[in-house]
Amino acid sequence: MVVSSTAEEIQAPTETKYDRQSELQAFEDTKAGVKGLVDAGVTKLPRIFIHPPENLRDIKNPTRNLFDFPLIDLDGVDEDAGVREKIVDRVREASETWGFFQIVNHGVPVSMLEEMLDGVRRFNEQETEIKKQFYSRDSTKKVTFNCNFDLFSSPAANWRDTIYCVISPNPAQPEELPTVCRDIIIEYSKQVIRLGRCLFKLMSESLGLSPDHLIEMECAESLALIGHYYPPCPEPDLTFGISKHSDNNFITVLLQDNLGGLQVRHQNQWVDVPPLPGALVVNIGDLFQLVSNDKLKSVEHRVLASNAGPRISVASFFGRDSGPSSKVYAPMKELLSEDDPPKYRPTTANEYTEFFRAKGLGGTSALLHFRL
Ligand code: OGA
Ligand code: NI
Repeated sequence: MVVSSTAEEIQAPTETKYDRQSELQAFEDTKAGVKGLVDAGVTKLPRIFIHPPENLRDIKNPTRNLFDFPLIDLDGVDEDAGVREKIVDRVREASETWGFFQIVNHGVPVSMLEEMLDGVRRFNEQETEIKKQFYSRDSTKKVTFNCNFDLFSSPAANWRDTIYCVISPNPAQPEELPTVCRDIIIEYSKQVIRLGRCLFKLMSESLGLSPDHLIEMECAESLALIGHYYPPCPEPDLTFGISKHSDNNFITVLLQDNLGGLQVRHQNQWVDVPPLPGALVVNIGDLFQLVSNDKLKSVEHRVLASNAGPRISVASFFGRDSGPSSKVYAPMKELLSEDDPPKYRPTTANEYTEFFRAKGLGGTSALLHFRL
């Protein structure tokens, strides 16, 4: 070993202190996302995407199917009171223990699910020049495309590009939506709004409230469609598709393709959410955990990176505010008692979202900040 001690060599161990901000900015300026890197033929992961080893340690655990991921059949939910009661019981059980479940017979035709995934694919695979016109981090815009909403605030970036469309209460106008997926976004959103109402009713009933309770609380008021595109990753063991996080909303209805990679934290293990053609994944978000005073769980989840792909998913976020709103959310008084006092301070969806976004994905839950 050659022993010399120039200033440069002494600094070598702190090499990780590279100029991250400039590298992020240079990448941001391409407006082409991670797909742009793949198109340019990268074979090594740029270091802005490399996650610390302690966060990557558990991505290799062989998947053990120790658990049956909850699957709920909605067939007959509006026709038969007995069937409905059983469905409500299953929704309660899954929301309390997993914070996640899959649904089938939800009424959204399989062909529409496929066309929605294909619409997100078409958007991402169209000419970069057209796609770039949507590239923005301006949260007042109704339609934006970018790579990692938290690119500049998270410690490590994820291998994923995202298109974000505001559906309600003040929707993007049809002409603002990208031409290649305009029709399907409009059609699919109508179905998701209908399904969302059905789910909020079931959730209300599962909490022992009147069926319209959560809808009257405006939990289904705002809806955003978030289309993710996870290109094949050259070094999938060094990064994530999405770092672990919980969602900052009431409910997410997720459509995933058949590649897999989504994992949920359950009983201290990462459990795969098995892709099931025709199914939709439903999960409880932080604001729902807050108003339910911890009766329902907003559970951490993540997406592994993979050298297969692109993987495509569409997350429909209910309750994420798209504009200033003074609507206050606090633990529901119907669910409180002397033995069960409020665990959270009141907040607005907007305050919650601002805090969540500034914090970025990957750390501890934003909910802790609102805990009493
Ligand atoms: C999300 C999310 C999972 C997926 O958008 O919050 O967790 O499979 N998505 O894309
Ligand atoms: Ni999520």
